[in-house]
Amino acid sequence: MAFMLSVPGNTPVDRHLDTDGLAQVEFGADIKEKEFFLRPDISFFNHGSYGAVPRRVLKLQEEYNREREVHPDFWFRLNAKRYLDQARELVAQYVGAHTDNIQLVRNATTAINCVVRSYPFAAGDALLRCTFTYGAITNLCEDFTSRIRPDVESVNLQLSFPPASEDDILKEHEKILSQHPNIKVAIIDHITSPSSIIMPLKRLVDLCHSHGVKVIVDGAHCLGQLPLDLENLGADVYTANAHKWLYTPRGCAILYLSKESQAWAQPPNTSWQIGRSLDKQFFDQGTQDHIPMICCKHGLEFYQAVGGMDQIVKYTRTLADEAVKLIEAEVGLKPAALPKSMEAPNLRLLEFPPLKEFPISSENLWKLHRALFGETSVFSLIVPVSGKFYLRICTQIYMTREDVASLVQVLKDFFSTQA
Ligand SMILES: Cc1ncc(COP(=O)(O)O)c(C=O)c1O
Repeated sequence: MAFMLSVPGNTPVDRHLDTDGLAQVEFGADIKEKEFFLRPDISFFNHGSYGAVPRRVLKLQEEYNREREVHPDFWFRLNAKRYLDQARELVAQYVGAHTDNIQLVRNATTAINCVVRSYPFAAGDALLRCTFTYGAITNLCEDFTSRIRPDVESVNLQLSFPPASEDDILKEHEKILSQHPNIKVAIIDHITSPSSIIMPLKRLVDLCHSHGVKVIVDGAHCLGQLPLDLENLGADVYTANAHKWLYTPRGCAILYLSKESQAWAQPPNTSWQIGRSLDKQFFDQGTQDHIPMICCKHGLEFYQAVGGMDQIVKYTRTLADEAVKLIEAEVGLKPAALPKSMEAPNLRLLEFPPLKEFPISSENLWKLHRALFGETSVFSLIVPVSGKFYLRICTQIYMTREDVASLVQVLKDFFSTQA
C-alpha cells in the first residue's frame, strides 16, 4: 500500500508524549504553571468552549508541523495518513469502537452537517431535534429543511428547563415519536450545551430505534468528560470533539458511523477519493491540516498520564460542587435544579436574578459579560437558557479554590452595584 512506503529521509517517527513527571504534577496551580500556557493571573472558567492545550501536546504539534514543511509532498502523500490511522486506532479503542467505524474530522459541526446532509430522506420524512439542541445544529436543521430539502419536515420537541427527570425526557420523546411517525432521524445531544444536561442517552437511542428512527448523537462535550462505549451504545452516528476535554489542538472530532450508517453517510467534501473506502475519503478532504487530528493521540496520552477520567473527574467534579455551594452561599445565585444523574461532571449552571439594566437579549448578553468580567482577571460564560441568564462554570485540572474565591468576589462586587 502506497501509504506504508518508507522513503529514505522521510521515515515516519513513532512519536509519543513525553509523560515524564506528569503523574507527579499536582492538579491546580502546579499543573497550570508547568503544563499550560494559560495566563497565570486568570481564573479561567470556560474550558468548555475551546479547551486549553497542554504545552507538551503543542510541542508535538510543532514537531509534526516541521516535518510537514521539510517535504510537503512526502507528508501529504505518504506520512499523514499513516499517523492519522494510528490516532484513529488509539482513540477508537478508548471510546469502545472498531477502528473502521471511527473517522476523524475537524469538529462536531462538520460531523453533524455531513451526516444530516447525506442521509437519504424521502419526501415527507421528518428530522427531530429539541429545545436543547446546540444552536449551530438547530440552524442546520432549519436550513436543511427550508433551503436544502424543503420536502423534509423539521420537528422541534419542546422541553422545559430544568427537566424534572430522565423519565420525563423519555416520556416527551415517546409522545413526539408517536405523534410524528414520519420522523426518520433524531439528533440527540449527550451533554447539552449551554444547558449542560446529561441526557439519558442509551434509553433514548433504544426508544428511537423501537420507532425505526436513526439517531445522530451530538456528544461534543463528552470525550474526556464521560465514559464512552460506542459499539454497545448502538447509536447510528456519534460525534465528539477532542479539542474540548481531551487536551487536543483545535480541529479534531471523532465521527463514529455504525456499519449500517456507512452505507449512506458521506464525508463533507467529494474528493479525489470518491468511491474508495471511507477512511480514505475522510482523510482526503482536499488539502487540509491533519495535525490536530493526529495529535488526539497525544491529547489522550496526556489525559491518561495525569490520571485518566477517574482522577480528572474526581478533581473537577469536587471543585464544581464546591464552587456551586460557595456561589450560592455567598452570592445567592441558585444552581439549576437538575436531577443528580443528569448533572455533567465539569459543567454547572447558576441562575441570575432578573437584572433591570440587562433584560434578556443577545445584545445584553455581551454587555453583561463586559460589565461582570471586563475589568477583572476572571472569565466565565453567561448563557441564556429558556428565557433566563445563567452563569455556566466549567472546571478543569488547572483550576483551584482560589479561582473560585476570585469568581465569588467578582460576582459579589457586581451584584453590589445592581439595584
Ligand atoms: C453540544 C455541542 N454541539 C456542537 C458544538 C460545536 O462544536 P464545534 O464548534 O467544535 O464544531 C458544541 C460546541 O460547544 C456543543 O457544545
